[in-house]
Amino acid sequence: MLRVRGLVAGYGRIQVLHGIDLELESGEVVALLGRNGAGKSTLLKALIGIVPVQKGEIVFEGRPIAGLPPYRRAQLGLGYVPEERRIFPELSVRENLELAARPGGPWTVDRVFELFPRLAEIEGRPGGYLSGGEQQMLTLARTLVTNPKLLLLDEPTEGLAPILVQAIAETVAELKASGMPILLAEQNLAFTARLADRGYVLETGEVRREGPIEALVQDPRVKELLAL
Ligand SMILES: Nc1ncnc2c1ncn2[C@@H]1O[C@H](COP(=O)(O)OP(=O)(O)OP(=O)(O)O)[C@@H](O)[C@H]1O
Ligand SMILES: [Mg+2]
Repeated sequence: MLRVRGLVAGYGRIQVLHGIDLELESGEVVALLGRNGAGKSTLLKALIGIVPVQKGEIVFEGRPIAGLPPYRRAQLGLGYVPEERRIFPELSVRENLELAARPGGPWTVDRVFELFPRLAEIEGRPGGYLSGGEQQMLTLARTLVTNPKLLLLDEPTEGLAPILVQAIAETVAELKASGMPILLAEQNLAFTARLADRGYVLETGEVRREGPIEALVQDPRVKELLAL
């Protein structure tokens, strides 16, 4: 479904990714692991097109997309959930979702409320009043209602209390069960170990380890790379 070859990308003259090869098949959840600054977010941003690709190719469902602007990649089915939470503070939870919703798949505002009962409870509340965990859920929910074919999820557990990490894990597991392919950037190995099929471990913009998630969890070098 997604094939990345020799991807070089960065910011202006600063090169951050030095030739990434990565693959994701439909139905898979693939973890993108690495400590702070390893290049996880930069890779997701290069995939969605907000960081320019300097070299290499990105093929999504058989189609080269590295030269396309972000909105075209989104139209083709890439759904990006950024690390920072971008919701409209003055709009209600429901309005935030209705504004983002696009037909073309199973995810409607009501279906998303079933997935996130907490958001249904507070559907009339302005986005700006939400807790960090609620904002994280709304950010994910907003991308879901666009009905993406592939979710690019950037550190959904960052800064959340354990109980909320658990809630997000359950949601991701439900999404996986629904068949949604996910590329999941995370530092939290334990979190991804329960959800991902395979993983890639990045360090300074290069893939150092890749394989089935069970193998990565056992690998002492992976613990080193993640500073565990
Ligand atoms: N806008 C930017 N301009 C220049 N350099 C940047 C920019 N954003 C990130 N970088 C650099 O790119 C490198 C990779 O950063 P990136 O955000 O991709 O890491 P990450 O793996 O997502 O880390 P984290 O776990 O902290 O989110 C870092 O060295 C960072 O300083
Ligand atoms: Mg990041």
